[in-house]
Amino acid sequence: MKDRDIMTQLAQIGNRNDSTGAISFPIYYSATFAHPELGKSTGFDYSRSGNPTRKVLEDAIAGLEKGCKGYAFSSGMAAITTLLSLFQNGDHLIVTEDSYGGTYRLLDKIFKEFGISVSYVDTSWTELIRNAITPKTKAIFCETPTNPLMKIADIQSICELAKSRNIITIIDNTFLTPYYQRPLELGADIVVHSATKFIGGHNDVVAGLVAVKGEKLAERVGFLQNALGATLGPQDSWLLIRGLKTLGLRLDCQQRNALTIARWLENNPHVDTVYYPGLPNHPGYATQQSQASGFGAIISFTLKDKKQIPSILKNVEIISFAESLGGVESLITYPFIQTHADIPADIREQLGIDDCLLRISVGIENIEDLISDLNQAFNK
Ligand SMILES: Cc1ncc(COP(=O)(O)O)c(C=O)c1O
Repeated sequence: MKDRDIMTQLAQIGNRNDSTGAISFPIYYSATFAHPELGKSTGFDYSRSGNPTRKVLEDAIAGLEKGCKGYAFSSGMAAITTLLSLFQNGDHLIVTEDSYGGTYRLLDKIFKEFGISVSYVDTSWTELIRNAITPKTKAIFCETPTNPLMKIADIQSICELAKSRNIITIIDNTFLTPYYQRPLELGADIVVHSATKFIGGHNDVVAGLVAVKGEKLAERVGFLQNALGATLGPQDSWLLIRGLKTLGLRLDCQQRNALTIARWLENNPHVDTVYYPGLPNHPGYATQQSQASGFGAIISFTLKDKKQIPSILKNVEIISFAESLGGVESLITYPFIQTHADIPADIREQLGIDDCLLRISVGIENIEDLISDLNQAFNK
């Protein structure tokens, strides 16, 4: 399906893959697989090492991201843990400073103990990355757009810099998905997703996906996936396959809604700053336009008066006050006490993830209903 339009690739995932002719690829609930004879295999031995339903999903993410191999994990954090296991005691990493709080926690509370050091950098400035490189730097791990401040990194310039220093680049593509942004085509070595978000798309599955460019690196990630064992089960793999089929339809609708809400927030007297890369005054707007075909559906904003926050969170009627993002249902999150609570308070304040900041993951509901929901919640 490599040459077809992405909408066609998405809709066709799993079709013509099963010998029965099943249009919806079956869920292969089998932990183990019989061998026809000694020394022969059907291609599947044991489901941690490989499962037919998971393989359809893994091939799909590899194809969509233009990688040579894809891997599915039991969560985004399981995927990131597996990728961080590429590194050893003494290695140094450069990581986006306002990354997802769980990524920060994993690095700061676990991998630091294993002797992996990290410089946290504003990756929207490639020069700051250049300045942070040491002879021990092995990878740049970059989120773009960042969570929650929606900063945009210039993927191509980062990858060029990394290549010139023999450093690998890992991009967390959760916020945009391959429908809007394909970092491997811009020079990255690995893409990782919390597939819990836009790829699953329905707030019903926790999962992680990885796509790798380069056979040798892919083989190592495959080894780690099997050795560490945090693989995705067949039912959850199937849910992601089903979610992916409508990814383009969902994202286009969510992005359209997001732009309208971002403009509404910009003109709202209670709002101080709006962080949405689809607004022309966003500092990353031009970079985003040059490297992706969309801006996504996540908006962060600060209120002038933080005392309004409890009332907004209590009074929204359509938008749910909940962690997570990317699903068809709109959610509102308070990063300060939810997604980014594990980042030390002083660092959080310094980054701007303060107690005035809210994040909306815009869903596919009718836009007038969403605006009127926000309007009534803001004015109560
Ligand atoms: C950008 C980003 N990366 C990774 C993760 C972790 O993924 P999961 O919650 O599926 O483990 C998240 C979760 O919110 C995220 O937002």
